[in-house]
Amino acid sequence: MTKKKLVFSGVQPTGNLHLGNYLGALKNFVSLQKEMNCIYCVVDLHAITTFQNPTELQKNVLETVASFIATGLNPDKSILFNQSSVSGHAELAWILNCVSRIGWLNRMTQFKDKAGSDKEKASVGLYIYPNLMAADILLYKATHVPVGADQKQHLELSRDIAQKFNNDFNCKDFFPLPDPLIPKNVSRVMSLRDGTKKMSKSEESDYSRINLRDSSDEISKKIKKAKTNSEQIPVSLNELEKRPEALNLINIYTEISKTKIEKVLNEMSGKEYSFLKMKLTELLISEITPVGKEIEKLLKDKSHLEQILKKGKEKANIIAEENLKNIREKVGLI
Ligand code: AMP
Ligand code: TRP
Repeated sequence: MTKKKLVFSGVQPTGNLHLGNYLGALKNFVSLQKEMNCIYCVVDLHAITTFQNPTELQKNVLETVASFIATGLNPDKSILFNQSSVSGHAELAWILNCVSRIGWLNRMTQFKDKAGSDKEKASVGLYIYPNLMAADILLYKATHVPVGADQKQHLELSRDIAQKFNNDFNCKDFFPLPDPLIPKNVSRVMSLRDGTKKMSKSEESDYSRINLRDSSDEISKKIKKAKTNSEQIPVSLNELEKRPEALNLINIYTEISKTKIEKVLNEMSGKEYSFLKMKLTELLISEITPVGKEIEKLLKDKSHLEQILKKGKEKANIIAEENLKNIREKVGLI
């Protein structure tokens, strides 16, 4: 029997979504809704693993929903909701806390990065964050998970947890092992200030990223200031790969213009960076600013966004409760 395909993914409501989220995740979410049933979740319980100002958190949840819709997600087709509104996520996370192993969590590089040098001071939630992520996916028995490359290790852990649950409770194939869907060309959009670090909401300098709500002027200034670290655009892919900042700009250009990297290099190699920057700025302005304007428009009607979340929660909860009933039974909870 072939399992029915189901897509699940989540994005944290920690403020301003950027070009990395857009190319690494959101655009993929939108194209998948044409071929499969999809569930997309604003993961507020994940966000609070590091302290969030409560007023800001509420604002950011709505902004994330607005960003989903502005990118092209259709709430009548896909389920769109926030994690804390379906209590099954927290309940399954607890059960999976008892399946997952400390040794597995100790290998998670995101925890090491986020906790920094003083791990004793990190929240327990941050440590078991990957178990909650596994619960998000397995609660719906999702088969496919579109994410950026930074989430690959967490996805592998989700598969290990699913497999251990299936073994421990003697229910082969109960949880499908979820497959990551990682975009090929732009699995990791890098910072505009340092081509070895990923573009991120948490990097201090706003010049390191293009936000979905940036104006044309801001995009133009940021690309002008973006680091390039050589005189001219290299002539070969080999040479380009030794220059992470240049490679990043070319990758972004390649992805948005839907061209092959060889063709882009043919057009650009030997030219000054100002040429690439001018073309990239034009492209980004035409791709990103309409999304930003749509987000602003959607944010003017908060009750509409709340209504979308409410409908999504109702639909998600039906699937979650049905699956949880079986999960409780497998574990022996009455
Ligand atoms: P987050 O904002 O950390 O919740 O990430 C939401 C989604 O965006 C996840 O699928 C991430 O893998 C993806 N993502 C975040 N930053 C980047 C980046 N710099 N490049 C590619 N994908 C990213
Ligand atoms: N951890 C993911 C991130 O930071 C967000 C996330 C939470 C997620 N739950 C998920 C992604 C389930 C995919 C599936 O990007």
